[in-house]
Amino acid sequence: MSEVLYLGKAKSVHSTDKLDELRLVYLDQATALNGKKKDEILGKGQLNNEISSKIFSYLTEQGINNHWIKQLSDTEQLVKSVTIIPLEVVVRNISAGSFSKRFGIKEGLKLPTPILEFYYKDDALDDPFINEDHIDYLKIASKEDIALIKEQALKINNILIDLFSSIGLTLVDFKLEFGRDSSGQIILADEVTPDTCRLWDKETLASLDKDVYRKDTGDLVSVYKEVAKRLNEIKGE
Ligand code: C5P
Repeated sequence: MSEVLYLGKAKSVHSTDKLDELRLVYLDQATALNGKKKDEILGKGQLNNEISSKIFSYLTEQGINNHWIKQLSDTEQLVKSVTIIPLEVVVRNISAGSFSKRFGIKEGLKLPTPILEFYYKDDALDDPFINEDHIDYLKIASKEDIALIKEQALKINNILIDLFSSIGLTLVDFKLEFGRDSSGQIILADEVTPDTCRLWDKETLASLDKDVYRKDTGDLVSVYKEVAKRLNEIKGE
């Protein structure tokens, strides 16, 4: 009945009996360095499903058009079927990660305005940095589509800065993906989790995100549990 349509690094995508709906399964797997570092981490799938479901449901309440329909089980969610636009849209509020490395800027500096970057989703090319002229030339998206994606990404940034701030976390940076639904409309897709965001505790500056796995500085499950716990507290659940 249900067919595996795509097996990703952290999720698998399955068909459902409705053409315009898909089932996402969050896997107990962590990868870094574009898949060169890879480990099975028990409990990660459940935590990311719970965290992403909470965040997408909040984004829906805030008027952000997105693919999320509902959580189906501990590790599964139902989403609208979209054709993913092969871009990773990164928004940065504070210098860190590849931004600091690429430009030789120390980590932890507040950026005067958010900085938006695009990467071309292509494992074989190692997801290269890409600009709007390249996106246009490669016919990945039109200039109008890119304008809409940028506007949405910055709006989502404002919503998420406030959401995370209310649970004592600074949203340093994060990655979004967008897709086209069956009517051709561009909507937010994929996930928002500590796999795709850098989150620093406001008091201690500790990373509560995948950097603990990338840098081997802590236990992924305990920090993801802390993020889930704080999100649950705001929703009063
Ligand atoms: O590594 P970099 O500093 O470019 O990452 C920026 C943000 O995008 C980080 O929050 C990281 O978790 C996220 N990211 C991601 N998937 C990638 C690359 C980056 O979720 N393939």
